[in-house]
Amino acid sequence: MKNVYEIDFKANMSNFGNLVPIEAMNSIPFSVKRVYYIYGVPSGTKRGFHSHINLQQVLICVSGSVKILTKTPSEEEVITLDSPLKGLYIGPMIWREMYEFSDNAVLLVLASEHYTETDYIRDYSKFEILANEYFKEAN
Ligand code: TYD
Repeated sequence: MKNVYEIDFKANMSNFGNLVPIEAMNSIPFSVKRVYYIYGVPSGTKRGFHSHINLQQVLICVSGSVKILTKTPSEEEVITLDSPLKGLYIGPMIWREMYEFSDNAVLLVLASEHYTETDYIRDYSKFEILANEYFKEAN
């Protein structure tokens, strides 16, 4: 769907274990300004429920698994992140919800900008209006 796609990372595998390099502007399409990770999520918890106006992110479940629902006003997709080799790019104006975190899940997020609450849209009806405008202009 628009502004969302999976990225396959390549591991350097050896008898000593696996190493996954991620290079800005190479394996992912932006320069990383911020990294954060989510872990210790209690069973049954849902997170997210927001969109960003400008932010680009790549989500990687480096341990365990999690489901990510992504939405525009006209499209919807669920992706299971269950491998340290799989990334999910989420660009601007995408509603996301994260759920079914496994007990051992560690969700690593690479972000294109520093944290700023003014970039969030946390109200779904406001998101629908702004996303409709955004995708109309993008087409
Ligand atoms: P939020 O993005 O709402 O988490 P989620 O979408 O996973 O439910 O962030 C939760 C809280 O953490 C919120 O109060 C803002 C804060 N926060 C930071 O201070 N810095 C950050 O980089 C992020 C992502 C969140």
